[in-house]
Amino acid sequence: MLGQQDFDLVLELAERFRAIPSRGPRRLPALQGRLVATLFFEPSTRTRSSFELAARRLSADVASFAPASSALVKGESLLDTALTYAAMGAELLVVRHSGSGIPAALAQDLAAMGHKVAVLNAGDGLHSHPSQALLDLFTLARHFAPRQPTIQALAGRTVAIVGDILHSRVARSNLWALSAAGATIHLCGPSSLLPGCFADFLAAMPPGCDRDPVPRRGEIRLFRNLDDALTDVDAIITLRLQKERAQRHLIPNLEDYHRAYGITHGRMERCRAGAPVLHPGPVNRDVELSSQLLADPQRCLVNRQVSHGIPVRMALLYLLATTL
Ligand code: CP
Repeated sequence: MLGQQDFDLVLELAERFRAIPSRGPRRLPALQGRLVATLFFEPSTRTRSSFELAARRLSADVASFAPASSALVKGESLLDTALTYAAMGAELLVVRHSGSGIPAALAQDLAAMGHKVAVLNAGDGLHSHPSQALLDLFTLARHFAPRQPTIQALAGRTVAIVGDILHSRVARSNLWALSAAGATIHLCGPSSLLPGCFADFLAAMPPGCDRDPVPRRGEIRLFRNLDDALTDVDAIITLRLQKERAQRHLIPNLEDYHRAYGITHGRMERCRAGAPVLHPGPVNRDVELSSQLLADPQRCLVNRQVSHGIPVRMALLYLLATTL
């Protein structure tokens, strides 16, 4: 978990990496001769590809693990898989897993065995998705302060997070990141997807911490009604509705869900002028976001989030590699 200075260091580095011209030679020598392995035990498009592009832009070698065609199907364990990549020289393991806490447990096991390998969490269960929250923070900071995108750009702002908060690791990581930046957070969803206990979310300790490195955090407010939640907010982050939730009767049906919690141009009229909407992707069109809004780059920053994933993940790989 990051303190405010750490957030700013990541954002400052990401801004430098982002500013490298998108045409011509783009590779920096920072990780030349280093091996990054991406171990994704769950599907991914954005996170995996942007970590791999980020590693290559820093001149690292990349080993990409595909579970379905790996020795995992012969029964090899997660730890033995990681040890195999470590034996090939991987120093940075980017790990996504459906189990909450797996990347942290793997890092502990590898350290206990004496391996100098850093593990980067690329999304674990319902627990956290730190690099997504950092790229969301970077996208918002660049939106509010394009010349100087620091976390101070978020202080005193209000951000609504809408939808399936209960099952969202992106929401949990964003609660820690946005509150550290001093933003007020409006959480909005039906009680089946947003239990009342989320009002006290920040009373727990941040992941991996025995004390909170942030002295004063922004506050959380809970809403059931979307129009109330969006009134005077500076930005919205809406979340993917996992469609199987409808089958489990956590929502009535997708049409009703869209009517109650879908973000459209009309619903955004409640927000402050020019407020943008973000979504981590993949998007269910016309469920959590209207197709019309998705095609409007002035209000919808989804594509910008995706492109910011590369410089933010370059910053993370660079910072971790320099600690080894
Ligand atoms: N936002 C996100 O984690 O997307 P992917 O599942 O495509 O990586």
